[in-house]
Amino acid sequence: MLTVKSSDLKKTKIDTLAVPVCEDKNIYDDVSLKAVIKKALGLKEFNGKKDETVTLYDLPGIKTRRVIFWGLGKLEKIDRETLRTMAGKTVKSCIQKEPADLWFAVPEAKINGLETSAVLKAMQEGAYLGNHLFDKYKGDKKKKALKKINFRVAASAAKKLRPISDRVAAVCEGTTLAREWINIPSNDKTPEKFTRSIVKRAKKQGLKVRVLNETLLKQKKFGALLAVAAGSQSKPSLVTLEHRVPGANKTIALVGKGVTFDSGGLNIKTGNSMAAMKSDMSGAAAVAATLITAAKIKPKLNIIGIIPIVENMPSGKATRPGDIIRSFAGKTIEIGNTDAEGRLILIDAMSYVVKKYKPHFLIDMATLTGACVVALGEKIAGVFSHDEDLAASIIAAGKRTHERCWRMPLPEDYKELLKSDFADTSNIGSTRWGGAIVAALFLSEFTADTPWAHIDIAGPAYSTKENAYCGAGGTGFGVRLLTELWERLAAAP
Ligand code: BES
Ligand code: ZN
Ligand code: ZN
Repeated sequence: MLTVKSSDLKKTKIDTLAVPVCEDKNIYDDVSLKAVIKKALGLKEFNGKKDETVTLYDLPGIKTRRVIFWGLGKLEKIDRETLRTMAGKTVKSCIQKEPADLWFAVPEAKINGLETSAVLKAMQEGAYLGNHLFDKYKGDKKKKALKKINFRVAASAAKKLRPISDRVAAVCEGTTLAREWINIPSNDKTPEKFTRSIVKRAKKQGLKVRVLNETLLKQKKFGALLAVAAGSQSKPSLVTLEHRVPGANKTIALVGKGVTFDSGGLNIKTGNSMAAMKSDMSGAAAVAATLITAAKIKPKLNIIGIIPIVENMPSGKATRPGDIIRSFAGKTIEIGNTDAEGRLILIDAMSYVVKKYKPHFLIDMATLTGACVVALGEKIAGVFSHDEDLAASIIAAGKRTHERCWRMPLPEDYKELLKSDFADTSNIGSTRWGGAIVAALFLSEFTADTPWAHIDIAGPAYSTKENAYCGAGGTGFGVRLLTELWERLAAAP
């Protein structure tokens, strides 16, 4: 879908060419491009300011029917996200027009310290992700995604730049897969169906897949996971996906919260807060899609994805507030609130992966708390870790991909809030304050001293508004982040 070519604009017939323009500096060497940009900048309505755009037809000197000039703003302010945004918005505007073919002119100069490879990568990401539509449930599929998006580079650079497309396509395909899973409604995404969908995709990609079904979960005493699943008509599962390479010297375990619908259970949520709870499996979607991406990119380290999948429902069989359950690790837990279910399925998955695989790093990703959204808003994830280097790597990875992460504290003394009069621990804090921290502290008791980080994505996993390169709904937050992260961990000594 993404191609890199070095076509001569004077000779090649092109339907639509998008040209990013910097406000205060020329970023192209190509003579014909420089000439048409000069024309556009000669117009009163276009100065190359950020998001300013003008479309011109049949310009002399090139064989392009339509040229969309897109302002990037001042050079010193341009970063990867400016480029993704520009490309995403351009593709979105073209989806309406359905051009015969769309090309992007890739700036030949370094942009604010970014090499051409980084510039191309960011543009391709924005374009690919902006081209994703979720219309599975629409009868009238009016919009059509573009079949191919071309990137025009200098002839001298084409060979070196071409391999970038494959990696970008793999990671963005992972991101759109996660988005689709999240957008599917819970009636089409029962734990059984979601499990089957993950297994099918993972097997197709050559991952080693293992599923623990309800019978095995009972046999192996996954008490916390089973307690959450108890109220639902659907049966839970624990899916393990493995990417392994011979001679790998590191193993990373990724755990993703897979609640296909969170009604709250007997502590039922009220109308508004239940509305988007089909997205409560966003952590699972991100982890499964990351493993599928890894199977394509084949990094030299072992990555294990562990995905507990349940539905949290009220019923005559549901777990009650006050019930005491026993987790896989053997600790007893008093259920203070059945809506604090994510942490219960996560701890059983974490205890299991630590025992079975002894990973060097354990990272969980979950739409865990409303409190994290209160703290950081809807676009930033909370990162909790005792491991300075791991936390720093996650935050740096998020900076790179613009999946923003903010480090949160794990104060030892707050653990007191989790005390239960009757069991080893409660699943909720005794006050309503610091809910995201308390949830993370609860998880921290089940890491068995493995270097661990928890990423609370309750805010950024889902959006009711579209943005430059994502439609309304699941954002796929986490796939690019985790991919960037394991690349960093693989490269570290
Ligand atoms: N799935 C929710 C968290 C959530 C909230 C995700 C908003 C996305 C958007 C989680 O299971 C939950 O209900 N948490 C409770 C915990 C409380 C009962 C201690 C919460 O945050 O209110
Ligand atoms: Zn809940
Ligand atoms: Zn939940």
